[in-house]
Amino acid sequence: MGEVDQTFIQAADHRPKLETIEFDGIPLIDLSTGDIKVLVSEIADACKNWGFFQVINHGVPLELFTKINIAAKTFFDRPIEEKRKVKRDEVNSYGYHESEHTKNVRDWKEVFDFLIKDPSFLPASPDPEDKEIRTLRNQWPENLPEFREVCQEYARELEKLAYQLLELMALSLGLPSNRFDSYFEDHTAMIRFNHYPPCPCPELALGVGRHKDAGALTIVAQDDVGGLQVKRKSDGVWVPVKPTPNALVINVGDTIQVWSNEAYESVEHRVVVNSERERFSIPVFFFPSHYVMVKPLEELVNEQNPAKYKEYNFGKFFVARSRGDYKKLEVEDIQI
Ligand code: SIN
Ligand code: FE2
Repeated sequence: MGEVDQTFIQAADHRPKLETIEFDGIPLIDLSTGDIKVLVSEIADACKNWGFFQVINHGVPLELFTKINIAAKTFFDRPIEEKRKVKRDEVNSYGYHESEHTKNVRDWKEVFDFLIKDPSFLPASPDPEDKEIRTLRNQWPENLPEFREVCQEYARELEKLAYQLLELMALSLGLPSNRFDSYFEDHTAMIRFNHYPPCPCPELALGVGRHKDAGALTIVAQDDVGGLQVKRKSDGVWVPVKPTPNALVINVGDTIQVWSNEAYESVEHRVVVNSERERFSIPVFFFPSHYVMVKPLEELVNEQNPAKYKEYNFGKFFVARSRGDYKKLEVEDIQI
């Protein structure tokens, strides 16, 4: 057995079991299915029972995956001094980061992240009392031709898919397809490149510790290595999200959990690492506009099913959650 620094070691009850389990996989949905009723009912089942599913024939050009994967690998291959020129710090919220923590345990990975739009419209903190000093500017590496253009092209394509999925999710909750539109008028999304190097102690550390996503929905492109696991709702067992060629992984975030008053839940997930192969993944996190007040939708609450959450300001929630050294705010903290 190799060794890893103490900071990476998970508490005993959160360490992964590395043996493979019998499992058919999370739902796989073909978005090119012509029958909208079938599609909407598949989305409803997947969101209700899993909070996670994969989509194929999603319309994102396959050449773009090749380009974005090359961009991510080329960036991570750069010497560490080059990567640190765009590092995330107290002032810059986005860029390269080599010591990401989840629930105060260090993740076995390095990341590069950026926001889809120039986020100058987004205050670092929506709370005027808050002495937030960070800026939300993107940082782009120098000397990587076309890196920024490819990142932005990918972000635009994924944004189209996210809107399509939000429409399907609205329909699947019995709402008009445009029900969520007004919440996304000034929205942003964060795109993250994850690189998980081989780990000498995959039984002690995790690529990403257990967590839920704070936004509306997340769309993940993963390579063929595998490692993403989801906590199965029916029995709490961690099951793998098997890499499927050309598929994207979708998961419901906290915001949809609140809007749907828990008809759909944001499910815990994590990433296990292995000692043989490095892994790359690219999650895109879609957030509502920062000024949106999030609460269970009126159409989905009634006397028998009262609102389970207090109203909260998305921007404030997001800032509180994303500050590394703060106790992370969880959606459960706003439960009624
Ligand atoms: C995440 O949930 O942040 C990571 C997803 C992945 O690497 O598959
Ligand atoms: Fe996640």
